[in-house]
Amino acid sequence: MSSDFDPVAEYTDKTKKSAEWFARSREHLPGGVTGNVKFYPPYPVYAKRAKGSHLWDLDDNEYIDYMLCFGPLILGHGHPRVLQAVHDQLERDGTTIFGPPHELETIMAERLNRIFPCAERVRFTNSGLEATLHALRICRGFSRRNRIAKFEGHYHGCYDEALVSLTPSEDTAGPYAAPQPVACSLGTSEYTLQSVQVLPFNDTEDTVRLLKAHRHDLAAVIMEPIQRGFIESELDFLKTVRETTEELDMILVFDEVMSGFRADRLGGAQTMYGVTPDIMCLGKIIGGGFPSGAFLGREDIMDVVNPVTRGKENRVFHGGTFNGHPTVLAAGMATLDVLEEPDTYSYLNRITGKLRTGLNDLFKRLGFEAIAVGPGSTFNVIFADECARSYRDCMHFDASLRRQFDYGMLSRGMHFHPDKPLYTCTEHTDEDVESTLTVAEEVLKKMRSSE
Ligand SMILES: Cc1ncc(COP(=O)(O)O)c(C=O)c1O
Repeated sequence: MSSDFDPVAEYTDKTKKSAEWFARSREHLPGGVTGNVKFYPPYPVYAKRAKGSHLWDLDDNEYIDYMLCFGPLILGHGHPRVLQAVHDQLERDGTTIFGPPHELETIMAERLNRIFPCAERVRFTNSGLEATLHALRICRGFSRRNRIAKFEGHYHGCYDEALVSLTPSEDTAGPYAAPQPVACSLGTSEYTLQSVQVLPFNDTEDTVRLLKAHRHDLAAVIMEPIQRGFIESELDFLKTVRETTEELDMILVFDEVMSGFRADRLGGAQTMYGVTPDIMCLGKIIGGGFPSGAFLGREDIMDVVNPVTRGKENRVFHGGTFNGHPTVLAAGMATLDVLEEPDTYSYLNRITGKLRTGLNDLFKRLGFEAIAVGPGSTFNVIFADECARSYRDCMHFDASLRRQFDYGMLSRGMHFHPDKPLYTCTEHTDEDVESTLTVAEEVLKKMRSSE
């Protein structure tokens, strides 16, 4: 990084209290954080309060928030209708959680079954991770096959199978036409590696070939229909995956933890593409900012957890003390109330489009090979001459330019989580976007002049 523009130094200059708390946290939490993704060097911003599209750190620096807790806060921080719903639930029910079933579980399930084409039956979980984990188990239980297929670079939560080939290095990943299962976390067993078939995203021919070759042992194919929120499925590819899984009697699982309510319309990526999976997973937004998740889909498959129709020896175990938590569902219902209003998605699309287009205009005008890309209310900024079609393309993005851009934005009041996608919310205003573009122009010019 050039000596006359040092955005990391600018960042550390402005965030002295975050540095102090990071030092203190490190004495008690490995790396000072409660999840690895929350860390970025030299230390992350420590949050103090937030409202709408804005967030303040411990030094009282104000930010426009484009991290939004990695996606759930589609209505921004502390939306009055969400806060009111939580307050009302606690007042009305007189408790945080009942234990026995309650009405809101059914009401939310009815709602999700109406919104998503594939949904007929729902089970709630406490996170997106749990949703995909249980979904894969019901697929194995239903089909009586043991292995699952996933796409290289797709994220489904932080457990053994899901982490296989999430971020393999080029020298371990094998040829793209036949990607090798790579353990992306210590602690992954050989058995786990063998139980996962890795597939090349957006590569129709090789995906079909691999699925056919493993037709007798694969229970399911799980995928992010929009990889990491910004790499779209090519429509022919997605349709072929649907047709092939149907033909081979494999269950197709869409992990819509991110895209479920962040595609460009209500009904998730499956509605956007017009391709219906058998099972889908949700998380993030359905809890209105509280821990949440769900797996839902075809009645016959979901029935493998049914304690009414099946005996113990003949069903899949699904449990969770906090599943269907009333406070979480109340916050989720209030969030969906706003998302189902007729103008919400058109507003989200307009405001996100304005930011994305504004950034792309700046990149072009200032001579950067960079793109802001992604559908709906999530997108990524990549320093490359064209958008990626798969994880392998992402290996060639210019990480050093992205780093300068991220820290330059961060130290000028734009809450970008370095190297992660950006999220927008209904509380982002035209003024927010305009000031973000003004700051982006300043940062990009500094990057140019310090080359
Ligand atoms: C597509 C996808 N699936 C699953 C998960 C895991 O969700 P959670 O962090 O709630 O466990 C995430 C989280 O970012 C995700 O983006």
